[in-house]
Amino acid sequence: MTASRLNIALDQDGLVLPDSGHIAVLRATSQFDHNGIARQRLRLFNSFRPEFDRLDALDFTVAADFSGHYATSMVEITRSKAETLGLVAMATMATDPGGIVLVDGAKTDGIDSVLKHCKALFQPISVVAKSHGKLFWFTRPENLPLALTEWRAYLTAKRNSAGYLSAPGMFSPDKADPGSTLLAAHFDDRLAGEVADLGAGWGWLADQALQRSDAISRLDLYEAEKTALEAARANIADTRAEFHWADVAKLDITARYDAVISNPPFHQGRAAEPDLGAAFITKAAAILKPKGQLWLVANRQLPYESVLAECFAAIRPLEETHHFKVILASRPLSGSSRRLQRNSRHAR
Ligand SMILES: C[S@@+](CC[C@H](N)C(=O)[O-])C[C@H]1O[C@@H](n2cnc3c(N)ncnc32)[C@H](O)[C@@H]1O
Repeated sequence: MTASRLNIALDQDGLVLPDSGHIAVLRATSQFDHNGIARQRLRLFNSFRPEFDRLDALDFTVAADFSGHYATSMVEITRSKAETLGLVAMATMATDPGGIVLVDGAKTDGIDSVLKHCKALFQPISVVAKSHGKLFWFTRPENLPLALTEWRAYLTAKRNSAGYLSAPGMFSPDKADPGSTLLAAHFDDRLAGEVADLGAGWGWLADQALQRSDAISRLDLYEAEKTALEAARANIADTRAEFHWADVAKLDITARYDAVISNPPFHQGRAAEPDLGAAFITKAAAILKPKGQLWLVANRQLPYESVLAECFAAIRPLEETHHFKVILASRPLSGSSRRLQRNSRHAR
């Protein structure tokens, strides 16, 4: 955010927050600038593990699951309009009548559309526009508009076209991702022993692995978005599955796996971040047994070849389409062999 938007609202635009009581911030990020609000009044919420960890390290009071009642609530919008409207509904319902609800976000994330929807339900709405974004706020009415119940329901996971529970804001919420579908078609009993899914989402890929291979003894799902992980838990009845709310890039575990499956994330927010996918590949190599294998699908244009070559002694393309590449990488290199590999490549 936004700091400046909040400060402008407080300093120049007549925003007056109740002078006592806690202030909830939903989908708070570590960029949240709380200048103008005493830190001890803030209750921050974010179910995305990397943000949660960053806020926790900054000593904020932070939780993954939203709960409680507040004098003031603020929503940082997400790129999913339905998820954002759900968050606005949740925040408004949890705010005391007469309290203030604030909504903040960038134009590129759709703040104008959210503002339009809110204007249809709440009057008056005050707005500060700055730094390619907007902060707007309204007073929580005594009686809540009926439409708010509908908005709130967007956050509840529902069955999608693949027959799995998912909700707006999660990765590919409406259907199985085509990249994951391509990878899963290669799964059979060769996928065996102890397996990890890095970036498991609402669990489609992991469930396919379990359905297609009886040779799997355990499948650990690692996912940063807690709401998606909870959907995965509801979607996968198989007792071989275990669920971990974790930031894969920071994963620090002693477990070693026979196989890792992954359709790694390649962007956070709007910006493409191939480094995040590369961090997943490096982590996969680190948590595999010496004979372990990484089964990976990625968008074709993503430059993962060099990190794969740095981390694995054998790399075999299994399939390539117009959009995706499916890769089987074997014989993970240890830290020191990896350094040698990197140095020899740079020397060439
Ligand atoms: C491309 S999706 C794949 C989801 C699922 N495996 C599938 O096939 O449908 C990547 C997933 O990685 C998750 N993710 C993003 N950053 C992460 C991180 N640092 N640690 C763990 N998971 C992360 C995203 O929330 C998303 O669910």
